[in-house]
Amino acid sequence: MTGTDTVTPVLEVRDLQRHFPAPTGAVRAVDGVSLTIGPGEVVGLVGESGSGKSTVGRCVVRLDQPTGGEVVIDGTDVTGLSPRRMRPLRKKVHLVFQDPSSSLNPRMTIRQIIAEPLRLHGLATRAEAHRRVDELLAQVGLRPELADRNPHQLSGGQRQRVSIARALAVEPALLVADEPTSALDVSVQASVLNLLADLQREKGFGCLFITHDLAAVEYLADRIAVMYLGRIVEQAPAVELFADPKHPYTQALLSAAPVPDPEEQRDRDRIVLTGDLPSPLDPPTGCHFHTRCPLATDRCRTEAPQLRTLAARQVACHLVAEDGTAPDARQAATV
Ligand SMILES: Nc1ncnc2c1ncn2[C@@H]1O[C@H](COP(=O)(O)OP(=O)(O)OP(=O)(O)O)[C@@H](O)[C@H]1O
Ligand SMILES: [Mg+2]
Repeated sequence: MTGTDTVTPVLEVRDLQRHFPAPTGAVRAVDGVSLTIGPGEVVGLVGESGSGKSTVGRCVVRLDQPTGGEVVIDGTDVTGLSPRRMRPLRKKVHLVFQDPSSSLNPRMTIRQIIAEPLRLHGLATRAEAHRRVDELLAQVGLRPELADRNPHQLSGGQRQRVSIARALAVEPALLVADEPTSALDVSVQASVLNLLADLQREKGFGCLFITHDLAAVEYLADRIAVMYLGRIVEQAPAVELFADPKHPYTQALLSAAPVPDPEEQRDRDRIVLTGDLPSPLDPPTGCHFHTRCPLATDRCRTEAPQLRTLAARQVACHLVAEDGTAPDARQAATV
């Protein structure tokens, strides 16, 4: 606690930028993202492929170095910290990757893999680590005898459970999960997602949940941030975002998601986004989305909209009024 009624967020990202040098300028993969996650809060980060979601996640866990802005973890600005000074903070934030087979050392046993963070942070004696691994295996629903196997002897779903156990070994304040189920068989995706949801509720860690899966994010996230070409265009409590998307891009994104009921699917107004995501090497002028927005005006083509706060929501669109009234892109471009 920093005051009487303020709680320190587990993550504060301020005006984050990650520009990659390129022969003809810079790839603006992340271009001014601000995001806050409170203790125990799950924030979903969604957006098309290439919008910069993983780059945000990598900068948060310091696998990548921001070129601008700040990353504050549990009250400590980690942006310029040396690896040595960063070390104690590494306990606080862990990443679960998309593909567990590439993130688990094939030469180590499952027990060694899960115990490694405890060892690195000097948090447990050998005997304690042994007990803790048994406990963690049980928590992620894996049989104790798997402890002596190597990653390649496990299924994809089991491997992802191992990486979740490893990430939780040191009881982090924040978990960054980047598409944690998309590399898995569809049949096991739901069980891994349920496990993540159960553990999150039980342990209360904050979570940045990066995904393409809108059903998953609706189920798991308290709040959702929508990214488009390196920027957040809308951010709102999950319930509000799904019930009433304000930004034309959010409307398009949600309308493109399949719904289980075929009749509802048929009756829905869908927006089909034409063209690909523009290149972050040469982003459009004004609002980045104007080249694909069915509602774009001259102002949208020239003036970049600020991310404005409207009640519990933030939205960056010239067409959304101060009282929150927003045009419906589905009316303008239905198929
Ligand atoms: N190391 C790099 N060098 C140059 N460009 C990069 C690098 N890493 C990412 N990019 C570019 O930055 C942009 C954002 O990439 P990023 O992987 O963050 O997107 P994403 O939203 O996670 O996409 P996906 O949904 O496909 O995982 C892309 O245009 C990508 O090509
Ligand atoms: Mg990604």
